[in-house]
Amino acid sequence: MLYIPTNESYQSRYNKQYRINQRIRNDLSVSTGLEAYESESKLHCNVSLYDLVSAIPSPCYVLYYDALEFNLKLLHEIAHASDCKILVALKGYSFWREFDSVCKYLHGATCSGAWEARLAYEEIIKRQEQCRQEVESFDKNSTHIGSKDYYSVKDICVFSPAYKESQMQEILEYATHIIFNSFGQWHRFKPMIDSKNRHLLKENKKKIEIGLRINPLYSEVQPPIYNPCVSKSRLGIIPSEFYKDIESYASLYGYATIQDFFAAEFNGLHFHTHCEQDSEALARTLPHVIRYFDSFIKLSSWINFGGGHHITREDYNCDLLISLIKNFKNQYHNIEIFLEPGEAVGWQCGDLIGTVVDIIHNEGNIAILDISASCHTPDCLEMPYRPMCYKISYQKSTLSPTLHIESDLGANKGKYSYRFGGPTCLAGDIIGDYSFDTELHIGDRVALCDMMHYTIVKNTTFNGIELPKLGVIKEDKFTLLKDFNYRHFKDRN
Ligand SMILES: Cc1ncc(COP(=O)(O)O)c(C=O)c1O
Repeated sequence: MLYIPTNESYQSRYNKQYRINQRIRNDLSVSTGLEAYESESKLHCNVSLYDLVSAIPSPCYVLYYDALEFNLKLLHEIAHASDCKILVALKGYSFWREFDSVCKYLHGATCSGAWEARLAYEEIIKRQEQCRQEVESFDKNSTHIGSKDYYSVKDICVFSPAYKESQMQEILEYATHIIFNSFGQWHRFKPMIDSKNRHLLKENKKKIEIGLRINPLYSEVQPPIYNPCVSKSRLGIIPSEFYKDIESYASLYGYATIQDFFAAEFNGLHFHTHCEQDSEALARTLPHVIRYFDSFIKLSSWINFGGGHHITREDYNCDLLISLIKNFKNQYHNIEIFLEPGEAVGWQCGDLIGTVVDIIHNEGNIAILDISASCHTPDCLEMPYRPMCYKISYQKSTLSPTLHIESDLGANKGKYSYRFGGPTCLAGDIIGDYSFDTELHIGDRVALCDMMHYTIVKNTTFNGIELPKLGVIKEDKFTLLKDFNYRHFKDRN
């Protein structure tokens, strides 16, 4: 069923959304996935928890469809209330096998290069065209409001720290916006872009818009590996370089002023300085952007506030985000604003479910899983962080088989403690330390929570370890969407 915005005030709609959020969290327990199904009464059709879990192979990333829908509806609400465009960052969330809702609720995708742009074209633009045709034929004789808006034209924004010519050829086929990390790269590709744009205009199509990524020298992100404004950062043009380069390219191209040059050659600006942050961080960042780039924002038709906005996190201040966007638009000629979150799209909407393969002892219990931190959850090592987890044990003592689901109690808190590690040769292939009130057994299932973003996209087959399968739980039914085999490993080497 389509979700149709009403004329209610944003606040009351947001409150409603918030209640939906709570309901999903309570009923389906978004943060703990299958755990919520333990009370069989929460299953909506005639399926037992045992059957549901038994249908899931191991290891497998399991998407909770309702939770994804919730995130997308909330993002759609924010875009609607603030009059901005929200794109999915494919680098963080690329699970295109369930992209119908992404097409419905978001404005397109932001891509890191040619392959992501092609994926966005195939799985957003083409899919959306198909949906729009269906909606249009369905809507022909009705006054059905809103539905067509969901399938409006989508954008494909591309940013890369540096493009190669071969990549640019392909990007030009798909992109609506191309963002450069230096004036030098823009200068190099200008002839290709101008020629493509002449073609597009001849065919009465929209030109590709061009932007520059700026570095406002302010980011609160920790640790430094995730901070694009650290000293010597290669991400975004710092103000001093911006002013130096814009002068020299304006004179190279024979423009009277840098403003004339910018207005004639560029359409927008982009900054990305956030990571898992609240809107308060954005509020503190915007003055830095304005301080250095005010006169060029005035000449832009759009500005992209990047990703890292943790909008779907329960305590995120959505109202502040909306007012920041509205104020910015008021201050700058109703400029179009993009946000491009990845993590917020896939936030808390799926788990990685694996199996305990062996339990050994060395100054404590060590459970070896068919999940590897190194291959399947690399951020556990890079960030580093310890995912929440729950265990699923089979109860064989009763007549009909049942399952017991238990949340992890924290490191060394419960009666039984375990270190979870993967099957690779890496000594540090450790997911974390966990404990439970009941004992863990070989063959038990283990679910690592909130694993849909920045995991699948980063998977490797190091040590010949299998790639986890991909599946979805929709209407209380598990569907396997992708299985990987030896070929996938062999083809990569
Ligand atoms: C330029 C850019 N945009 C968007 C994103 C998405 O960020 P997030 O997934 O944290 O929302 C990233 C992530 O690194 C990025 O580098």
